[in-house]
Amino acid sequence: MNDRFLRACRREPVDRTPVWLMRQAGRYLPEYRALRAKHDFLEMTRAPELAAEVTLQPVRRFGMDAAILFADILTPIAGAGYEVAFSPGPVMARPVRSEADLALLLRFDPEEAVPETLETIRLLRRELDVPLIGFAGAPFTLACYLVDGKGTKDFALTRGLLYRDPDFGRRLLDALAASLVAYGLAQVRAGAQALQVFDTWGGLLGEREYEEFNVPVLRRVFAELRPAGVPLIYYMNGPARLDVAGSLGADVVGIDWRTCMAGARRALEGVAAVQGNLDPLALLAPEEVVRERVRDVLRRAGPGPGHVFNVGHGIHKDTPPESVAVLVEAVRRGAAE
Ligand code: CP3
Repeated sequence: MNDRFLRACRREPVDRTPVWLMRQAGRYLPEYRALRAKHDFLEMTRAPELAAEVTLQPVRRFGMDAAILFADILTPIAGAGYEVAFSPGPVMARPVRSEADLALLLRFDPEEAVPETLETIRLLRRELDVPLIGFAGAPFTLACYLVDGKGTKDFALTRGLLYRDPDFGRRLLDALAASLVAYGLAQVRAGAQALQVFDTWGGLLGEREYEEFNVPVLRRVFAELRPAGVPLIYYMNGPARLDVAGSLGADVVGIDWRTCMAGARRALEGVAAVQGNLDPLALLAPEEVVRERVRDVLRRAGPGPGHVFNVGHGIHKDTPPESVAVLVEAVRRGAAE
């Protein structure tokens, strides 16, 4: 098996920087759209053969160094019995606003809630010769969708809740943390070889709220996932909290394009690998610019071990697939070319 992704996560030497891309499976790929024309998104995530096929599409086409399970951060929430629609982002039929709304979450059992996702992982492990990344939404990021009910600019209801009713906010985050851990451990038992925790909206929290609400919950999550024995990745969108990122317990810290790569490498040296951080919109540029930007990221990351090449946020749906091929080829060639 090609294990340079896992080796880089552990900060071991590699022959070249490994590459995979957030949202590498998705709407920018014609072969995804062809399947999607025939099936609803949720239906695709719940059909192991289809979900496995979509996971494999970018690996086959581009030769990525890792595959990421095709599902959504809301998949376990839907599986727990909350009504979630996608249009295209998640929309909750009844947002979570009170203690009673936590009942389904507190009963979450991955084998019952998401058997199809676990089956998808088992199917994929038979097909793949690169590592399979499982994932889950971080508690605060999931809370954003549960409380606000859909994607919004600043998730004002969720952030407001933490000020208005911090006790309920904490119970909500604790319930999400417990389900995240159960879900992550189940993915690893099914065959996932790394786990990424997506805290996409964690960067919306104020400095103090991030420390009071997010840091303790994330530390617990990573400590409880640790016995799974696979590399753990923490991803947050927005300028990274490099003062605390290294203390959360993740092996890899994913940074976005606004975060200084060299600064992140210095701050996390000897502590965690760094994943990132090309601006996904750079893929809309002409080929030679894509190549140059890839080399720039590689140079900023430097030659030391522990860099996983990625975009700083998911690939945009208008990305030409050819640009992704150019990116992957440029990572293979390295910083010097
Ligand atoms: O390729 C992969 O990265 C694996 C699959 C994956 C999806 N969603 C598939 C998807 C992963 C890892 C996610 C995570 C996810 N989902 C996050 C965290 C990462 C991030 O991008 O910030 C978040 C915030 C969501 C919530 C979500 N789901 C949004 C905002 C959207 C719509 C917008 C978009 O980017 O496409 C979705 C729907 C969704 N999830 C699609 C896919 C392929 C598109 C659905 C369609 O085909 O209509």
